[in-house]
Amino acid sequence: MPFMEWNDKLLTGVKECDEQHKKLVNLINELYEAMKQGKGKEIIDKILNELASYADYHFSTEEKLMTKYGYPELSIHKKEHESFKKKVKEFIERKAKGEVTLSVEIMNFLKDWLFHHIMETDKKYGPFLSQKLGIK
Ligand SMILES: [Fe+2]
Ligand SMILES: [Fe+2]
Repeated sequence: MPFMEWNDKLLTGVKECDEQHKKLVNLINELYEAMKQGKGKEIIDKILNELASYADYHFSTEEKLMTKYGYPELSIHKKEHESFKKKVKEFIERKAKGEVTLSVEIMNFLKDWLFHHIMETDKKYGPFLSQKLGIK
């Protein structure tokens, strides 16, 4: 069983975002596997950086859609993205200085944050954006 299992409960109904969420879940699983298998720093850092930059890319996709269609909860949503980006950035910087290493706690933080953010925040834009995009 993967560290973070995809569940269709996570679907927002906005295809582009759902595909990106699946990719984020895959990257979290890749990172967990690399950690569990004791892979070297180079490999861990490569996946970690990929996860951070893909998360940034994904957040900007969502923010662009929400901005374009005038989603009323854009600013609060954006704040959650910002706080996650800040935490990940800080972790990467501290890791580069050798102050911290990737741990199960960090992995759980990434998994839980993504899960709760999708379930509680992203899913709220589902009906709104689907309607604007003419999906429903
Ligand atoms: Fe989001
Ligand atoms: Fe998202």
